[in-house]
Amino acid sequence: RQNARESLYIILNFAKNHYQHQLYNTEEGQAVGLSYFQERGFSEGVRKKFELGYSLDNWDAFTREALEKGYSAEVLEKAGLLIHKEGSKTAGYDRFRGRVIFPIHNVAGKTIAFGARILKTDKSQPKYLNSPETEVYHKSDILYGIFQAKNAIRQQEHCYLVEGYTDVISLHQAGIENVVASSGTSLTVEQIRLIARFTPNITILYDGDIAGIKAALRGLDLVLEEGLNVNIVLFPDGDDPDSYVRKVGAEAFKNYIKVSAQDFITFKTQTLLQDAGNDPFRLAAVIGEVVNSIVKIPDAIKRQVFFHRTAEMMKVDEQMLISEGNKLLRKLH
Ligand code: UTP
Ligand code: MN
Ligand code: MN
Ligand code: MN
Ligand code: MN
Repeated sequence: RQNARESLYIILNFAKNHYQHQLYNTEEGQAVGLSYFQERGFSEGVRKKFELGYSLDNWDAFTREALEKGYSAEVLEKAGLLIHKEGSKTAGYDRFRGRVIFPIHNVAGKTIAFGARILKTDKSQPKYLNSPETEVYHKSDILYGIFQAKNAIRQQEHCYLVEGYTDVISLHQAGIENVVASSGTSLTVEQIRLIARFTPNITILYDGDIAGIKAALRGLDLVLEEGLNVNIVLFPDGDDPDSYVRKVGAEAFKNYIKVSAQDFITFKTQTLLQDAGNDPFRLAAVIGEVVNSIVKIPDAIKRQVFFHRTAEMMKVDEQMLISEGNKLLRKLH
């Protein structure tokens, strides 16, 4: 088991170096990959820090080189780098072709997977291809950027959570290093506990679209249950942290966060209230939802603060909320 994992780490590290080499030392890599990163404004500093690379637009450029160096097709496949069709006589073909490469690191800094972005988005192919689940890569356990962020998170006692790879990289370039990405999926308990190893304070910076908001709401109860303090900032519709920080600059970005951060329960209550309008049945459902979230908070004093705050927002009696909450709490324990 240990040996199997170790051989995956070795091939993944080889692949990471290979993709970096293709980016800087081939004509195609420079013309296509490097100019893509430059057009996005990624400095050499962040390109190196995140070990960005490029995979040639070729069926098996990587596989051939790896086989030549003595790596086995079996290990390549187990690492998620080689796609082998059952019954096919050839070794197979590269998973990542003609894409810019974002290595994904574990907390210790080892490469465990890759995200790979197409250069020009069209509807025929997914924008990002990612490594499949492997023996060393469990998507739901990891956050992109945790290795590069962990010291800053500890120092600042705060973690920003964004959706995408490029959000993490752009924020580093702007001098904001305490940031990790959920990579477009809804948060898992493992990911939240990973952040909690370094800080209890999270600010969610999700994309300013409906999908971003929904994703943020889904993660809420989990985060509350872990006893973390959660705030949220939404970006203007159509912007994400990457596009916004490039538009307004680092200082204005930080200021925007400061003035628009909302605690998550207030945010949830507001969002649900807006959706419900004046419909009394839907308002009643909102009250139930909000109480449900509040009782997830382990700390009794914090719960009290939120009963008070949300009772005012929903224009209902605070004692009623508390007694509904107590009923739920008794059921939970
Ligand atoms: P976004 O669609 O917001 O992409 O998805 P992005 O990060 O802003 O990327 P750019 O700026 O267009 O390059 C957020 C994250 O969801 C995952 C990726 O991790 C992405 O960074 N995702 C998205 C996928 O895995 N596959 C996809 O096809 C799209
Ligand atoms: Mn797992
Ligand atoms: Mn999005
Ligand atoms: Mn983006
Ligand atoms: Mn985005």
